[in-house]
Amino acid sequence: MCGIVGYTGTVPAAPVLLDGLAKLEYRGYDSAGIAVAEGGKLQVVRRRGKVAELAHTVGHFDLTGKSGIGHTRWATHGRPSEANAHPHVSCAGDIAVVHNGIIENFADLREELSQRGHTFRSETDTEVIAHLIEETYADLSKGASTTSEASGLLEAVRLASMRLVGSYGLAVMSSKEPGVIVTTCKDMPIIVGKGSDGAYVASDAIAVIGATRDVVFLKDGHLARLTCDDIAFFDGYGKSVTEETTHISWDMDVAEKGGYPDFMLKEIHEQPRVIRDTLKGRLVAGHLEIDELDMTAEELNLIDRVYIIACGTSYHAGLIAKEQIEGWARIPTEVEVASEFRYRNPIITPTTLVVAVSQSGETADTLAAIRDARIKGARVFGITNVLGSPVARESDGVIYTKANKEIAVASTKSFLGQLVSLSLLALLLAQAKGKMRMNQIRLIFRELGDTAEQVERILADTSAIDEAARACVDATSALFVGRGMGAAIAKEGALKLKEISYLHAEAYAAGEMKHGPIALIDEGFPVIAIATQSPVYDKVISNVQEAKARGALVVAIATEGDKEIANHADHVIYIPKVRDALSAITASVPLQLLARSIAVIRGCDIDQPRNLAKSVTVE
Ligand code: F6R
Repeated sequence: MCGIVGYTGTVPAAPVLLDGLAKLEYRGYDSAGIAVAEGGKLQVVRRRGKVAELAHTVGHFDLTGKSGIGHTRWATHGRPSEANAHPHVSCAGDIAVVHNGIIENFADLREELSQRGHTFRSETDTEVIAHLIEETYADLSKGASTTSEASGLLEAVRLASMRLVGSYGLAVMSSKEPGVIVTTCKDMPIIVGKGSDGAYVASDAIAVIGATRDVVFLKDGHLARLTCDDIAFFDGYGKSVTEETTHISWDMDVAEKGGYPDFMLKEIHEQPRVIRDTLKGRLVAGHLEIDELDMTAEELNLIDRVYIIACGTSYHAGLIAKEQIEGWARIPTEVEVASEFRYRNPIITPTTLVVAVSQSGETADTLAAIRDARIKGARVFGITNVLGSPVARESDGVIYTKANKEIAVASTKSFLGQLVSLSLLALLLAQAKGKMRMNQIRLIFRELGDTAEQVERILADTSAIDEAARACVDATSALFVGRGMGAAIAKEGALKLKEISYLHAEAYAAGEMKHGPIALIDEGFPVIAIATQSPVYDKVISNVQEAKARGALVVAIATEGDKEIANHADHVIYIPKVRDALSAITASVPLQLLARSIAVIRGCDIDQPRNLAKSVTVE
């Protein structure tokens, strides 16, 4: 969840690191810090709070060193404080480490190192790494034998990392080897690349692509040694290896707000493009094709059970896809939160398909669930937004959502990309199983494409949404209700509202209201109803009436042309008519805007809500 960056080159490192950290800040923003090689020493500057505060403090130092490492933190072990901020240094202050991940055996290592005289200055799991490397480096300097081609800091990092249990992306420096950065990883992404002014390492390509678009995604257990002129790669045995380079094609403007007040609004407005790009090239000679899944129609035809595993917003995309896969392909489908799935004993056979949905492609629970499902013999498809991410690498096939980098912590455009990708998968399964006529599949594919223009229309006039937001803003709690597809859409609406506005929100299948939650409703209590045209429209209207009769302030998301709804709701947000199976694509957009609008009025930080981070790389 943390962001790490490193640079060694021909220009002062501090501004390069601060720029990289600003781009990585969405990964965590509890504290930040840098270490720069300065006159034979490592100068460490750390601050609690955001990167801007660190930048302010760094301004008081005259840092001219041309190599350094930096970190922006989402606290796991130890509260957000300057002492717990990275980089962490060894006893002598000559080794500095930044870390993304969790060291599970840190308590044992800390105990062992303390007994050997190491002094700890933080509550973090990371600090043990600095001390372990310090010890190993000292042993090597005394001539300890090693069988690898590596030496010095590289070998010390290699040997020390063999003692670590857990997950890590590391960047390490030593004052004894100025200009050298060593990096390694396990279950956490590390990207390295060589620009015209030096070598870069980061936990995310966004911090590197200003310098180079040709990057290496470091393999698990491998290491890289960066110097100003060169990047050398080694496997876990310390043997020199050649790594494959990947070209990153997305635009640099993903890192800019492009005139919007926040990334979330910019990304909401990118959704029509995401829909179009995700569908591009999928209908070939009248047939659906998703070659990346690497499965024949015969193999797809054999699938008799689907599990969709994901967390948060991605889980909600799964709930919507369940309706499509069962409805179109007639395959029984379960949707499970990855953190539960991995600790259950689900029934998996060779004809089970597991679909892992993860925007970041890094979510620890989803990754663990993928591994578990593969061990049990399932075929795993990943749906992710990040090229070369762990989910992409560890799945048998992958569909990329074409959302491009998403910066705002609250997912919007990647969610729509997931909905479109999962719709395609559902249609592909229906095609392979012969459960729908081809002209019906082509018709739905066309209608999927039409949603791009329908979303554009929703975005063109948001006045009704803003008015509803103003009506809800003083509430302390809200209920989101719907039935069928609407029940799943309601869950995503509630999540968006709570995560960015800090208003308590809950989602219920509307029919469940009278079994408990209706007790919450009194005068002016907001009930947001997904009341689009669907086979259960009349039932939803009855539930809305029940809420209204108890004084609720009803905001309805309804289909254009529906006059009836205005008789029951205080605010109606109209959206274009689409078939029910695709309604999540359009109905989610006003809910995203509603949540944002309420959060803006409440003065919340839209892109970086408290306590959250974009990639959840811890259990
Ligand atoms: C909410 C949100 C989170 C993520 C969840 C899973 O807006 O973004 O709920 O959906 O943390 O993340 P990914 O999709 O990266 O696995």
